[in-house]
Amino acid sequence: MSAKERRVLVTGAAGMLGSQLCLDAPSGVSAVGTDLIAGRPEGPAVAAVGFDLTDPAAVERLVGEHGPFTGVIHSAAYTAVDKAEEERELAFRVNAEAPRVLARACAAADIPLVLVSTDFVFDGSKRSPYLTTDEPSPVGVYGESKRAGELAALEEAPGQLRIVRTQWLYGPRGNHFPGTILRLAAERDRLKVVSDQVGSPTTTLELAPALWDALDRAPAGLYHAACEGECSWYDLARATLDIAGVETPVEPCGTEEFPRPAPRPTYSALDSSVLGDIRGRRLKPWREALESFLVPELARTSRS
Ligand SMILES: NC(=O)c1ccc[n+]([C@@H]2O[C@H](COP(=O)([O-])OP(=O)(O)OC[C@H]3O[C@@H](n4cnc5c(N)ncnc54)[C@H](OP(=O)(O)O)[C@@H]3O)[C@@H](O)[C@H]2O)c1
Repeated sequence: MSAKERRVLVTGAAGMLGSQLCLDAPSGVSAVGTDLIAGRPEGPAVAAVGFDLTDPAAVERLVGEHGPFTGVIHSAAYTAVDKAEEERELAFRVNAEAPRVLARACAAADIPLVLVSTDFVFDGSKRSPYLTTDEPSPVGVYGESKRAGELAALEEAPGQLRIVRTQWLYGPRGNHFPGTILRLAAERDRLKVVSDQVGSPTTTLELAPALWDALDRAPAGLYHAACEGECSWYDLARATLDIAGVETPVEPCGTEEFPRPAPRPTYSALDSSVLGDIRGRRLKPWREALESFLVPELARTSRS
């Protein structure tokens, strides 16, 4: 590797966020994507390396065998929030043990590690955006496993680790809420959406560059990165339909009307000012970001 060449390992390259990270690698950086199975998704964000996060030996080998790397962005995770309630052991193996092993490998190689984490580490009892100094207190297995991953990685690589928590993701790839709302609005006469859970919808188009900056420009530490402002799922559905010009009526309702296996924080907006100050800019306000994503996306799908 020449002195100027930078190779960064990006895990979860077939996922919603990991694929965008691969596409948005800064100039001069070669992103080496990994996922459970090599070769997915097809296209420019393909995962070059396949490995299973549940296999600690494979995770340990990853950095050495496919390196040298100048950094790692760990986006892969067990993300099935409801299923995690009955797959606790698997969720912890992927979300807590794998980050520990990866962090140890990054410490040994003395390279920075960005660990992507979640608003689900909070219990939702606040009514103003969560600060990085607020004490986590997860309410479900997924949040517990991600918090355990933060702590495990911190133990192994305090000098290398940038933990970046985010929330309510959507983007060009994968299944997400705005896409589901548009599909349901085409299938049904009216929709009901919960209005008593509040957060900050965040597009991967805004988040991916912030994570690259966290790797390159932020000192080791804990950060939040979400689009600015806050809204309920109902507000997000309403905005999605308005931007798309869809007139299907949508009614607000309470969480009790859609019972799910995993509890959710009722309020989980994140204060992203610390990383925003380092970057010299915040992620866009959520509605503006939604419009920037949806307008070209709708134009593209209407052409195809
Ligand atoms: N989505 C959100 O709203 C949200 C909110 C806050 C934080 N986050 C965090 O953001 C990150 C990215 O989330 P995302 O929504 O992009 O997730 P995603 O689309 O579910 O992608 C996760 C990726 O991890 C891979 N993966 C899962 N288990 C694996 C294993 N055992 N070995 C190797 N790879 C494995 C998945 O591969 P397969 O597809 O083959 O399973 C998938 O490509 C995660 O750390 C998540 O916790 C997400």
